[in-house]
Amino acid sequence: MHRTDVLVIGSGAAGLRTAIELNERGVDVLVLGKCKRGDAHTVMATGGINAALATMDTKDSWLVHVADTLKEGRFIADAREVELLCRNAPRAIKELADWGVKFHREADGRLTQRFFGAHTYRRTCFVGDETGKDIERALVKEAERRKIQILGEMYITKLLKSGGTVNGAAGFDMRTNEQFVCAAKAVVLATGGHSRLYRRSSSRIMENTGDGVTLAYEAGALLEDMEMVQFHPTGMVWPPVMEGTLVTEAVRGEGGVLTNAKGQHFMTKYDRRGELGPRDVVARAIYNEIISGRATKHHGVWLDVTKLPKEKILERIPKVYRQFAEAGVDVTRERMEVAPTAHYSMGGVHVKNGATRVRGLYAVGEVTSGVHGANRLGGNSLAETVVFGRLVGEAVAKFCKRTKRTEADARAVERAQIELEDLRKQKGKYAPRDLRAELQNVMWDNAGIVRNARDLKEGMERLGELRKKMDEMDISGTAERLVTALDLKNLLVPAEAVLRSALVRCESRGAHYRSDYPEESRRWTANIGCSKGSGGMTVSKRPVPKPSEAILKAVKSVGAAHKLLE
Ligand code: FUM
Repeated sequence: MHRTDVLVIGSGAAGLRTAIELNERGVDVLVLGKCKRGDAHTVMATGGINAALATMDTKDSWLVHVADTLKEGRFIADAREVELLCRNAPRAIKELADWGVKFHREADGRLTQRFFGAHTYRRTCFVGDETGKDIERALVKEAERRKIQILGEMYITKLLKSGGTVNGAAGFDMRTNEQFVCAAKAVVLATGGHSRLYRRSSSRIMENTGDGVTLAYEAGALLEDMEMVQFHPTGMVWPPVMEGTLVTEAVRGEGGVLTNAKGQHFMTKYDRRGELGPRDVVARAIYNEIISGRATKHHGVWLDVTKLPKEKILERIPKVYRQFAEAGVDVTRERMEVAPTAHYSMGGVHVKNGATRVRGLYAVGEVTSGVHGANRLGGNSLAETVVFGRLVGEAVAKFCKRTKRTEADARAVERAQIELEDLRKQKGKYAPRDLRAELQNVMWDNAGIVRNARDLKEGMERLGELRKKMDEMDISGTAERLVTALDLKNLLVPAEAVLRSALVRCESRGAHYRSDYPEESRRWTANIGCSKGSGGMTVSKRPVPKPSEAILKAVKSVGAAHKLLE
């Protein structure tokens, strides 16, 4: 039995930054990661991190950043959260630089900022195209300097509750299979999203499997905007082992050009900003080219940087260069074949200042909803992790100061243990990895880039059949089977929430496109919530929290050509 003030589940940038803030405020903290230390999903974040520093475009300001974020989120983001993100991002960049992140700089020492899609100005700071990797490295180093305990390869299966308050968690050590129990005053979920619901995804197989969303839902928290799943326009399509691997937006930010199999430059047909339009628009444009018979051999389109100087490619997008080299393509001379890949979850656990509606339970980063609305701007995700890591750490520290630690409920611990043991023994005819693939196919086929009522309803039916098969899943034997089975179980809640919310939202907005309701509707400037009821998942709708008068006035005064008050 471990004891700490705060248990942070998730060791990516959001979890680490939260832990650093707690430590700074004298709060005892333990960080757990499902991955190996230093190898959280943050390392996969490539192109950059946003802050309105105005180093390249002097007219930029945090207000324009707010305006861009609200507009591209199609007005269902929580403006208070967006304000926090954009106001605090410059400070977060400075902190990261102080902790040793090697951001690219101009000759005079200014931080370089590149264009990312749908930003009014250049505001994305970067470390080549391995920005997340360097941020994770620096945060691990800072956490180690502070002697913060980080345990890798830990799987949490249950949040423990006493009298309605979350006061710990139970799970197991994936290396030894030993049970793990921790009592804490508060638990922070920093577990990432659920984009591994989809067959083609930019996440590695064990990442973004909805673990935090499911833990929170089971504990009584509200989920919101679950229908909003971001498909990044450009993932690799070939070879099959590399399918889905991200081809960073930085490629287009640095001048990469999209063409279809007929050699046509199609993007301006869909958006005046061309390759640097919003992600949802570019992803749908590529999808449309593919299904309209203008696809390349492996069902993609071409992305071309051959006109860029080789030195620039090697300096600005070295990872892309390497990953295509591995696939036998020299991007300095040949075009890349790309297509959309599931990338990010805008929806997740509803929070206010990190607090869920369940006492003692907090969440931060991709596992939450609210900041990105219906479509996230590239580069806002890394910013979110570190900005809210600090703010949530501050809020949780205050909670801890006024809260006594309670012991974990012995019966709840025992129940968690028995459930896990039962699973370990489960025998049956289906392999967990086959059923996981089946789920990923259901979501890809029935709740993908373009949706309609018939497909979504069919998706619900297919999900029901899959649930039945899961009772006959063979989990006994290897640790890999157990972990895959647990990941699959965790994916079920977000799968159902995506399908149900997508069915309810009878319009098209941001990443959610309904072919049977192709227009955006004012009636749906609302958030859709999912929570656990006595008879299963319940779905609700509420108006989007109103931006404060001050922020509306300020954003309007920027004159960022956004029709914010439509
Ligand atoms: O394309 C990219 O580099 C992705 C960045 C992001 O999702 O923020």
